[in-house]
Amino acid sequence: MAETEQDNRTEITKFNLLGFVGLGELQFPLFYLFLVIYIVTVVGNILIILLVVTHPHLHTPMYFFLGNLSFLEICYSSSILPMMLSNLIYGGRKPISVTGCMMQYYFFAILAVAECCLLGIMSYDRYVAICKPLHYTMLMNSRICLQFIVGSWIHGLFVMSIVLYFMYQLKFCGPTEIDHFFCELNPILKLACNDTHLIEIVTIFISAICILVPFFWTLESYIFIISTILKMPSVSGRKKAFSTCSSHLMVVSIFYSTLMIVYILPKTDGLRNINKVLSLFYTILTPLFNPMIYSLRNREVKEALRKAVAKLCTIGRMHHCNLL
Ligand SMILES: *[C@@H]1O[C@H](CO)[C@@H](O)[C@H](O)[C@H]1NC(C)=O
Repeated sequence: MAETEQDNRTEITKFNLLGFVGLGELQFPLFYLFLVIYIVTVVGNILIILLVVTHPHLHTPMYFFLGNLSFLEICYSSSILPMMLSNLIYGGRKPISVTGCMMQYYFFAILAVAECCLLGIMSYDRYVAICKPLHYTMLMNSRICLQFIVGSWIHGLFVMSIVLYFMYQLKFCGPTEIDHFFCELNPILKLACNDTHLIEIVTIFISAICILVPFFWTLESYIFIISTILKMPSVSGRKKAFSTCSSHLMVVSIFYSTLMIVYILPKTDGLRNINKVLSLFYTILTPLFNPMIYSLRNREVKEALRKAVAKLCTIGRMHHCNLL
């Protein structure tokens, strides 16, 4: 009886994203805000990649990682923001196919996992540079760097393909409304009409590994770094190193902790409501601020940027640009 009832329900093939519905007049200011954020994210990250690639003295592991992080952030925000922008315009009236929705989540999640790994690797790189300077060239040679970077992409691809496999088993029989501004996993699971226990357990398990392992790795690296810094003899050097590390640690912790709350904690109703807001941190603000904080806190990047602007100025014969 129950079986025939289930068969009678037709499967839906399209979702509507309602994350921004009901904002009224806020819709347009938000659209322009997100548009500006997207443009700044893409342009800023492209600038960092260009700086790293064109300056031979920046061809060190730290800057290779930074360039790769910027590339990752461009892909990452492009997997979310264009869709959010179109959502803001259409206000949930433009449906997205179920497969398209899963694909969006798949790409977003691959990039998120790769980013978790890369941030961990970057803090490990600083740990080796500061705490084990004599072994740096040996521990961070170009082969190992490449392995780290390729490894984090492959890791993301592998674990998310497992999740995608389970997502393909889901059936959706309506409603079609997703209460989110992109195809996030939990709101999709909520709409499935078959049993979702298995995929929930699998994703909590995978998320825990992919988020907590790099998080503790990062934390451990920074604890060693900070304790080494505190032993430094010069006060000004100590202050500078400390402020750089603490700003890294801050953006990294916001990224990891919002991911943890959304993906690992149990999904109570209260949490569901703030998840939408929390996901803004790891989807939009991280790609915007990470490269800025990693590079503008850095003397060599600032110097390279200043030289690049100076060069542009002489090319364009614009003598009034002494801004930097
Ligand atoms: C990414 O890392 C690889 C290997 O370390 C390096 O060759 C490449 O130039 C990096 N890419 C960017 C954009 O910095």
